[in-house]
Amino acid sequence: SCQQHRYRIGVSQCSNDGWRQKANSEIKIGQYQYSNVDVVFASAENDGRRQVAQIDSMVADGVDLLVVSPSDTKTVSPAIERAYDKGVPVILYDRMTQSEKYTAFIGADNVAIGRYMAQFVISQVNNGDDVVEITGLEGSTPVEERHRGFMETIAKSNKHIKVTTLQGDWTIKTPRKLMYQFLKEGHRPICVFCHNDGEALGAYLGAKDMGLEKNMKFVGIDGLPGPNQGVEWVREGKLTASYIYPTKGEKIIPLAMNILQHKPFRRINILTSALVTKDNATIVDMQNREMLNQTAKISELYNNIDRYINLYQSQKIILVMAVIV
Ligand code: FRU
Repeated sequence: SCQQHRYRIGVSQCSNDGWRQKANSEIKIGQYQYSNVDVVFASAENDGRRQVAQIDSMVADGVDLLVVSPSDTKTVSPAIERAYDKGVPVILYDRMTQSEKYTAFIGADNVAIGRYMAQFVISQVNNGDDVVEITGLEGSTPVEERHRGFMETIAKSNKHIKVTTLQGDWTIKTPRKLMYQFLKEGHRPICVFCHNDGEALGAYLGAKDMGLEKNMKFVGIDGLPGPNQGVEWVREGKLTASYIYPTKGEKIIPLAMNILQHKPFRRINILTSALVTKDNATIVDMQNREMLNQTAKISELYNNIDRYINLYQSQKIILVMAVIV
């Protein structure tokens, strides 16, 4: 019989938070469509230098294709370029580099998301109100783009809105301290826009520490399903809104396989999504649960098939041994 060529795909994630975990489990769903694909995952814990080492070692190990979400553009770009120059195709996922040396991109338009969140914030405040923006960890393209889109739309608003931008790091902890400190200094922002939901929850908790959370609104990005994530915080009223930052991880391996098998593919793949507010949080949550169930079922099926195949293989060996004996 003919042995199918096996492909090995390396996925280099900048971090391992809820968004990445959802993405990675979807990537595995995409992998199940093929019987000849292995996927290796790495997480850089938001450390660009660690990510460079992980990418270099994946390339040294001979992966056929790389999927990368760069932790920060400056540090990680050279490793991506090195891989690309060696002939390893690169799919940038959710975050870009400043270089043209990549094969394809799949992710959302973060400038558009920034603009969209600014429109929402503008609708929530009055002329003359103060607003705070808390960014993600410095140096990645979503941070720069979300900020740019947000400020651009605020500047065009008929309402006069003063924005103070504070530097977050994707965590809950840092924005909690930042918000507490900011309020303690006497500032009274009406609305806080954070680059992810964890930060928005942190800002909410920091305001709560000052007893001021009821006077304020907190909005984030990600809109993740499940316990202790954005959609739940919107349902509970801690956050006023979040943007569901699309993962669509299941599209990655098919895109990778088109590249590897020299089939046509689209270089730039822009994912779109929607806002979640208290009005639709319940239905979003319901649909998410349904989706998680389906994903779990597919994984279970796949693992069962894997077990049957292994069982079959070992029975074949036992049978052969029995014949030999
Ligand atoms: C997850 C994350 C999200 C954010 C995205 C931006 O790792 O930090 O919270 O929306 O990355 O790339």
